[in-house]
Amino acid sequence: LTPAASNASMLELIAAKKEGLALGPEAIQGLFASYLGGQVGDEQMAALLMAICWRGMRQDELREWTAAMVRSGMRLDLTSLSRPTVDKHSTGGVGDKVSLIVAPLVAACGAAVPQLSGRGLGHTGGTLDKMEAIPGWRAELTTHEMMAILESVGCVICAASPELAPADHRLYALRDITGTVDSIPLIASSIMSKKVAEGTQALLLDVKVGSGAFMPEVAQARTLARTMLQLGASYGVRTAALLTEMDTPLGRAVGNAVEVREAVEVLQGEGPEDLRALVVREAQEMLLLAGLSDDPQAALDNGRAWECFAAMVRAQGGDPDAPLPRGRVLHEVEAGREGFLWKLDAKAVELASGRLGAGRSRAGDPVSPVAGVLCRAIRGQKVFRGEPLLELVGDDPSRLGAALSALNSATEIRDEPFPPQPKVLELVSSKGPGRS
Ligand code: URA
Repeated sequence: LTPAASNASMLELIAAKKEGLALGPEAIQGLFASYLGGQVGDEQMAALLMAICWRGMRQDELREWTAAMVRSGMRLDLTSLSRPTVDKHSTGGVGDKVSLIVAPLVAACGAAVPQLSGRGLGHTGGTLDKMEAIPGWRAELTTHEMMAILESVGCVICAASPELAPADHRLYALRDITGTVDSIPLIASSIMSKKVAEGTQALLLDVKVGSGAFMPEVAQARTLARTMLQLGASYGVRTAALLTEMDTPLGRAVGNAVEVREAVEVLQGEGPEDLRALVVREAQEMLLLAGLSDDPQAALDNGRAWECFAAMVRAQGGDPDAPLPRGRVLHEVEAGREGFLWKLDAKAVELASGRLGAGRSRAGDPVSPVAGVLCRAIRGQKVFRGEPLLELVGDDPSRLGAALSALNSATEIRDEPFPPQPKVLELVSSKGPGRS
């Protein structure tokens, strides 16, 4: 495929993929050149993406596809840092504020954590939207500033340069409006191209499984994890993945400022047990990948992780001690009967939070820092009739009706106790499947 003959050749590629054939390296390089050069339009790319959703990709084909995405922009070189680098990436959970805690925690244990993030597209804000609830905090840094903070503090959470894997920015926005997000090769190449371009030496993937995740089933999540591990290995990035349950929100807070508040609680030695345990587990795996042996539980307990978080926030113009903005309580959802809370559906809570204003439906839309949902009860808890289960907070009461309708079948209360469920389902690593 040459850029000049792009439209006709693209039609052939779409037809080939529709039949389930693999695209060769030249075809992939050519189609990226043509798409990024403007000779191939979004319509044809969307058709190809849909064919990939149905037909998948061979391993060598996916490697070439990912390489084309990496080559579409610049690659950072972090090797001048004095610490080993390790990053983490979550495939997206509800109430998932782990990055805010784990980045300073792992930095406090001796690694450099370059958390270069994108903005949330969807019902919950992304990591940057959450951090921007902190007064003064700035997501946009130059590469020079980012490197300086990584060296002095050990962690940085900032906006990824649009020059890192720019093909992914275009493709992800297109996938988002064409129903082509939930494809294992497309997700794997999207995530890994950005992480390879970022230059991290090691990477922990948190692959979410359940109703609030891209992957509802463990088997699919395991395949996604293995696919990303293979891509990581082909670039020499030491990669491991934890499959973690996402049927119910993580912690109690879903939104932006509310999630930062909860993250700060954990960094200061409090906060919900499920979140605390997951943070320590992820930090342990990251330190293992980075070849470090410090104890993250101790760094959390003795305040070193909090100090690191505060230093990172200050270095990015924010005030870690300033009060976070608060929304008004617009409504409380109460338990209709006594019993055990069997279901507190992550997807429904996420949708409600988004409709209150915490997320965005179009790239570039603003998000409300104060909107969100607080889970006053958690799954498995004994509840009584009339007791609040959810608190809907925000700054725009006209959004309440739509948010409440998202919660119609979000909860279920039964007489029998809910059996304990592990949050971490499985570790997938190059040493083979096994321990959770
Ligand atoms: N996160 C990404 O960065 N890309 C995807 O395709 C899905 C989740």
